[in-house]
Amino acid sequence: METQTTVPDILAAKGARRLVMVTAADAPSAAWADAAGVDLILVGDSLAMAVLGRPHTLTVTLAEMAHHVRAVTAAPRRALVVGDMPFGSYQASVEQAVRSACELVAAGAAAVKLEGPRSSEVAAIVAAGVPVVGHLGLTPQSFHALGGYRVQGKEASAARRLLQQARTLEAAGAFLVVLEAVPSSLGTRITQALSVPTIGIGAGPGCDGQVLVSADLLGYASGPQPRFVRRYAELGDTATAAIGRFVADVREGRYPAPEECYPSPPGLEAALAAEEEV
Ligand code: KIV
Repeated sequence: METQTTVPDILAAKGARRLVMVTAADAPSAAWADAAGVDLILVGDSLAMAVLGRPHTLTVTLAEMAHHVRAVTAAPRRALVVGDMPFGSYQASVEQAVRSACELVAAGAAAVKLEGPRSSEVAAIVAAGVPVVGHLGLTPQSFHALGGYRVQGKEASAARRLLQQARTLEAAGAFLVVLEAVPSSLGTRITQALSVPTIGIGAGPGCDGQVLVSADLLGYASGPQPRFVRRYAELGDTATAAIGRFVADVREGRYPAPEECYPSPPGLEAALAAEEEV
């Protein structure tokens, strides 16, 4: 097995190579991502929509996130696994944030991610020994307050605020900052201003790396897709077609074929027939 990616490896990538992160929620998708060579796997709270069928991320719990972190980290991985802190697991107090982060680490995460300009929480979690990823721009847990899933930082004042928030997160100890749905020029400006890497999702090519949600990238997400999504496969269609062929084979008697059945041991058929006669 290749060596495990560490936080210093991620920091060293800044300016040297582009980082790649994808989301995963279970063991098979984590294995696919790892085999494909990603640097980081995010057990993102987007799994609420992507695999739990919910309308948004706000109802996924810390226990549910820990369950998915356990599945993703069940087998040894080369990629660094980041557990996303769900809504309600860090908003009450700094102490709650540290406890929640420790719970995700106990489930197997190497680092945690939280949304918004929460430098006190980031500093406290880092002080507890847990590496932290920040997340700025469109922070989906705040979609009610933001008025929907909207591009952030379009006005100069909002852009300046996001730049300042990114600097503050870095100063608090975040080793990576996700920038979601901001103009490309702002993604580039924040990336240039930080000494830790940025990972963009709808933040343009100037970021130090890119992340996509697996369900979007692999083509099994439903509903409208944001502008930044590129679908590299249509697994949803592939799965429906495969199950459809199984349905037809069963209904038309083509499944199972003889080679898909266990042969009768000598004498078994005769014994069963004799039993019937009694
Ligand atoms: O939950 C998630 O998948 C995320 C990514 C969009 C970065 O936070």
